[in-house]
Amino acid sequence: MSTDAIVLLKNEHKEIRKAFREFEKAGEAAFAAKGKAVDRIIELLTIHTYLENEIMYPRVRELLPQVEDDVLESYEEHHVADVLVVELAAMKPDDERFAAKTTVLIENVVHHMDEEEQDWFPKVREGLGRKTLQDLGAAMLEARRTAPRRPSQPGALKKTVDAVLA
Ligand SMILES: [Fe+2]
Ligand SMILES: [Fe+2]
Repeated sequence: MSTDAIVLLKNEHKEIRKAFREFEKAGEAAFAAKGKAVDRIIELLTIHTYLENEIMYPRVRELLPQVEDDVLESYEEHHVADVLVVELAAMKPDDERFAAKTTVLIENVVHHMDEEEQDWFPKVREGLGRKTLQDLGAAMLEARRTAPRRPSQPGALKKTVDAVLA
């Protein structure tokens, strides 16, 4: 199995997009289905953001200083998503703001993932090369085993908070 970091992150994006579709296809008053989809979204985003924040972004920033601005922008975009995720995790699906908040989260994350896939990943692939991407992917698979799955777990928000508030 390939451990290419970009392949791994793209696969996670696919899972995240699938969970977004689950939410979107649930009916207006299907609170149980919406709640379940949002639980899944929160879990996937918490893991994915953690792996990018803790491993991918710092390593790429170090090795490719020319993409530093992209990394800083990404930390800010993760931060916006974190805020919404934390609020959603504390909300009931029948709250009148639940679906609206989820929709805004989805719009933000889709924009961010599109940018990573279309603009950032190609630059990183070009700049880092195959071997480094394999090593990075292996490090992410290892970290995935103990990664936080809920925003309330230790370490879930650390790097974004550091990057934004430092
Ligand atoms: Fe990201
Ligand atoms: Fe991503």
